Amino acid sequence: MTQFYDFRQNINDNEIRHCGKAIKEGGLVIFPTETVYGIGANALLEEATKKIYTAKGRASDNPLIVHISNYNMIEEIAEISNEIEAKLISSFMPGPFTIILKKKDVIPHTVSAGLETVGVRMPSNEIARRLIEEAGVPIAAPSANISGRPSGTTLQDIKEEFDGKVDAMIDGGVVTIGLESTVVKVIDGTPTILRPGKVTLEDIQKVIAKAKVSDNVMNEVQKDQKVESPGMKYRHYAPKTECILIKGERQEQIQKIQDKLRTTNACVVGFKEDKEEINAKHFVCLGSRINLEEVAKNLFMKLRKADSLGVKLILIQGTKEEGLGLAIMNRLIRACEYKVI
Ligand code: TXA
Ligand code: MG
Repeated sequence: MTQFYDFRQNINDNEIRHCGKAIKEGGLVIFPTETVYGIGANALLEEATKKIYTAKGRASDNPLIVHISNYNMIEEIAEISNEIEAKLISSFMPGPFTIILKKKDVIPHTVSAGLETVGVRMPSNEIARRLIEEAGVPIAAPSANISGRPSGTTLQDIKEEFDGKVDAMIDGGVVTIGLESTVVKVIDGTPTILRPGKVTLEDIQKVIAKAKVSDNVMNEVQKDQKVESPGMKYRHYAPKTECILIKGERQEQIQKIQDKLRTTNACVVGFKEDKEEINAKHFVCLGSRINLEEVAKNLFMKLRKADSLGVKLILIQGTKEEGLGLAIMNRLIRACEYKVI
C-alpha cells in the first residue's frame, strides 16, 4: 500500500518523520526536488536501491544520483580529489547540480552500477532536505518516471505509474525548475558537462573558465561507443507518440510545421508567439520563446499532455542551444529519438 502525503502548503512534522523512517528502513519514497520528482531509497542499503531499478524498469548499468543535505555528508560517501571539484561544490551546491566523484566503499555497487564513481547532489528543495535529514542517511534517487518516459514535474503526472510500487509519495506541488540537474565530472582537470541543466555552461565558466560540454550531449551515441555517463546511451524523456524536433529560425520553423500539417494529423508543441500563425488543430503551448525558464518548467508536463491527445505525430519547436536552451534541446532531441528537421 502506498501512503500519500500532501505537503503543498506545509510540511507535517510527524508525516515527514514517518517518510524518513521508511527510507532508513529500506522502503521507497517519491518526493519533490527543485528539478523533478525523485524516487528515493537509502543509498547505503543494496537491497533497497535494487528496488528502484525494478520499480522504474531501469537498466542495471545506469547509476543513481545520491542526495545529501549538508557538506559533511559528501566526504562520508565520496572523495573530493582536487581544488576544481571543491570549487564546483562550494559554488553550485545546494542547487540543481550533480558532481561525479570517486566513491567510497559505503556506496554499494547497485548505486554506482559498478563504476568507481558516484553522482552527488544537494537539493535546495525544503521537502527533499527535510526528508534526507529525517532519514539520517544519503538518499539514492533517480527521476520518478518509468525509464524512457518524461520525468515527473507534478505528482499527478506520475502517481499512476508508481501507485502500489512505493511505500509513500509526497506531493510538493509543481517543481520550480522542471529539468533534471546539471551533471558535471572533472575529467583531466576540465569540468565537463555530461547532462546540461539549470546551472549552465556559462555559469560554470564564470567559476572555471575551461569548463566544457561533452560531445554526447547533443550527438547520438553510436552502438559500442564508450560514453562518460551511461544515461547518454538510453532512450529518454519520450512520449509514446512519434515526435519530430523542428529546428531553425522562427519563420523557418513555422514553414516546416505547416508543410507537415498538410499531410498529417499532428499536434504542435510550440511557443505562444507562434500559435496563431501556425494555426494547428492541436496546439500545446510551451510558453514564451523568450522565457526559457518557463519553457523548461512546462516541458515534461506538456510532452505528456501532447501524448494524451491521440494524434499520430508530435511536432516540437526547438530553441537555441545556448544557456538553458542547451538543456531544453538535450531533452527534446532524445524525446524525438534524434529525428530532426
Ligand atoms: O535533478 C536530478 O538530477 C534528478 C532529481 C531526482 O535529483 N535525478 C535524476 O536522476 O535525474 P536520473 O537517475 O534520472 O539521472 C541521473 C543521470 C543519468 O544520466 C546517469 O547516467 C548519470 O546521471 N550518472 C549517475 N551517476 C553517474 C556516474 N557515476 N558517472 C556518470 N554518470 C552518472
Ligand atoms: Mg531520469
